[in-house]
Amino acid sequence: MVETLVSRASVGRSAKPRAGGSAAAAAIEPIGSVSSAEADRLGSGIGELDRVLGGGIVPGSIVLFGGDPGIGKSTLLLQLAARLAARGAPALYVTGEESAAQVRGRAERVAAVVDNLSILATTDLAEAVAAIEATAPALAVVDSVQTMAAEELGGPAGSVGQVREVAARLAEVAKAGRTCVALVGHVTKEGTVAGPRTLEHLVDAVIYLEGERLGATRLLRAAKNRFGSTEEVGVLEMRGDGLAEVADASRFFLESEQPPVAGSAVTIAVEGTRPLAVEIQALVAPAGYGSPRRAATGIDVNRILMLIAVLARHAGLNLTGHDVYVNVAGGLRIDEPAADLAIAAALASSLRERPVTEGTALAGEVALSGRLRASLRVDRRLAEARRLGFERLVTGPGHGSAPVADGLVVAREIREALGIVLTP
Ligand code: TYD
Ligand code: MG
Repeated sequence: MVETLVSRASVGRSAKPRAGGSAAAAAIEPIGSVSSAEADRLGSGIGELDRVLGGGIVPGSIVLFGGDPGIGKSTLLLQLAARLAARGAPALYVTGEESAAQVRGRAERVAAVVDNLSILATTDLAEAVAAIEATAPALAVVDSVQTMAAEELGGPAGSVGQVREVAARLAEVAKAGRTCVALVGHVTKEGTVAGPRTLEHLVDAVIYLEGERLGATRLLRAAKNRFGSTEEVGVLEMRGDGLAEVADASRFFLESEQPPVAGSAVTIAVEGTRPLAVEIQALVAPAGYGSPRRAATGIDVNRILMLIAVLARHAGLNLTGHDVYVNVAGGLRIDEPAADLAIAAALASSLRERPVTEGTALAGEVALSGRLRASLRVDRRLAEARRLGFERLVTGPGHGSAPVADGLVVAREIREALGIVLTP
């Protein structure tokens, strides 16, 4: 039974048959008269979420929200549903995991008891589909794909067959109407939603909610997005009243202590269209017997191994007898090579027990030859560094003529860069 969170108006079930394939094939239109999905996007007003979605939800699309159990998926989607409902776009929350009363409890906590938001507690796929078709909401949350089952299919909810059927059926329902279906999926032990690649090709977008369970920072990232960039990240914070946007996302990843301590270096990463100041922390300690440990959080460990080799060969810093730990502050993951220089500086800083000079940020790629290259979009990174109060950004030589800008320091090689940034 569908209930609104406010009243208890129940909605009857009326599964209407969907249009057949031949009818769809006959609907030929000039491209100029087709309205683009983009045009009808609905922004939720949760800026960090809208950013990752590409501007808001798209009618007739299906989006999978994945993440570890307990990370905040249900909270986020309840907030999304409530925000849209409050803006006049009706939303339906189908819960297979929790009872309607439990969802109502969470709704009270996150200010989601609003008009236009209805709730249906069921694990029956047919019932969920019928409710979506009958009420045609702007957004239908289905929480979660692992708890829904198609009766005719047999087999337990959560099995690969069921999960695929649930997603495929809901994708059809979304496409046939103007409802955006937001499907919740728990990440399995293998690290993917419901088994390797089971669902990703069935949906229009896959958004992951990530973070350390005990920390409050949550990152939103698109692994696939037909309607937007997969490079954007959204930054949220789990509070007592739900997920909230953070005031200055860039500052958020700066844990740096003043005055700076050894083993820490700041890079300006560009994730999507947004520059983020991020602290890289390294700890280098003499290893015991056996092969030394190399561990990294937030960075590919192979990148660290490469930088360790470059430091040994081209900067005279030998780490073969040391354990090496590298961490990106705030739970962020960085893939771009522009972080190389800050990682190398953090390693060198820890080994030498000398902090990076105050007011210095780094962004540049380190080649196997020990030479440096400027990072892409160096002007944006410099502007962000200056905005956050850094006096200089150390980088490598650019392509073509060297960039000349106030506060930009160009080094050609890793040894030269370390000479500039490590306090004597
Ligand atoms: P939840 O949304 O249930 O996670 P998921 O659906 O991904 O399993 O969130 C669970 C955690 O979030 C739980 O440990 C409690 C915490 N939480 C808050 O800190 N503040 C809140 O306002 C809410 C609703 C939950
Ligand atoms: Mg949940």
